[in-house]
Amino acid sequence: MNVRHFLRLSDLSPSELRALLQRAIVLKQIQRDGERYAPCAGRTLAMIFEKSSTRTRVSFETGMAQLGGHALFLSPRDTQLGRGESVEDTARVISRMVDMVMIRTFGHDNLLRFAAASRVPVINGLSDDHHPCQLLADLMTATEHWGDLRGRTVAYIGDGSNNMAHSWMEAAQIFDFRLRIGSPAGYVPSAGMLQSGGAQVTVLHDAVAAVRGANLIVTDVWTSMGQEEEAAARKAILAPFQVNATLMAAAAPDALFMHCLPAHRGEEVSAEVIDGPRSVVWEEAENRLHAQKALMEFLFGIGPVAALQGD
Ligand code: CP
Ligand code: NVA
Repeated sequence: MNVRHFLRLSDLSPSELRALLQRAIVLKQIQRDGERYAPCAGRTLAMIFEKSSTRTRVSFETGMAQLGGHALFLSPRDTQLGRGESVEDTARVISRMVDMVMIRTFGHDNLLRFAAASRVPVINGLSDDHHPCQLLADLMTATEHWGDLRGRTVAYIGDGSNNMAHSWMEAAQIFDFRLRIGSPAGYVPSAGMLQSGGAQVTVLHDAVAAVRGANLIVTDVWTSMGQEEEAAARKAILAPFQVNATLMAAAAPDALFMHCLPAHRGEEVSAEVIDGPRSVVWEEAENRLHAQKALMEFLFGIGPVAALQGD
């Protein structure tokens, strides 16, 4: 059987993704009950981080430990990748030694090249174009609150051209909800991504119009990793797209707020919103752990969701 990778949300079928979210909720309960579930004894996950991380590193490393396996943290500074060894050679070598690889990198092409040369599953821990693991946690959190996102409206406010916006667009298509992207001109999704988002996605340049009546308001940093030189310009252009109490007032009265974190209070979100009653950001962050355990279990071919492969 071909090796399965998870480089973008649409690498899994809609039925696999739905089952994975339900499985993540079960694994969360197992963890909460203090039960041991460790089917990955003797397996190793290599984690290659070319960018910083708090949540992704801690959730993958802890998740793998809880599943009974071992995780290796690798940074380009400490490996030959940083001294010019090719992505392909690195993939050939590492994938003969470990059972799964997670990579956080810049160009999405690095992931495609690594996966093409890898004998084992590769997971995207964030690239410039996609952040699918974050979407698993976000969709899991929405599932816990509502059961299903079908028919609801999500408003993504801020930089509509970044990895999180792209992954939300894929989610809208797969999970059949409306997605309004509220972004300034010049910070909108690429034409290719817009096409793949289909009829579910609308782009607006007015934040209030984008959130009007929405059930879930999402934002992300204005300056993503690798864009630090643009920070001042982005701060000025994106200022009218801050998620604050005035903006939340235009959403549905029971609307939830999500942010993948790290957050910058006073920039993309006000403290009153992120620390307020509609915010589910801490559950969302915790769910990285449970959703990725379900993902790793699936990609290892273990557990009930793996039985669905090919459906
Ligand atoms: N949300 C997220 O991916 O956080 P980290 O950058 O801390 O991993
Ligand atoms: N868009 C952000 C997400 C951080 C988790 C970035 O790429 O830096």
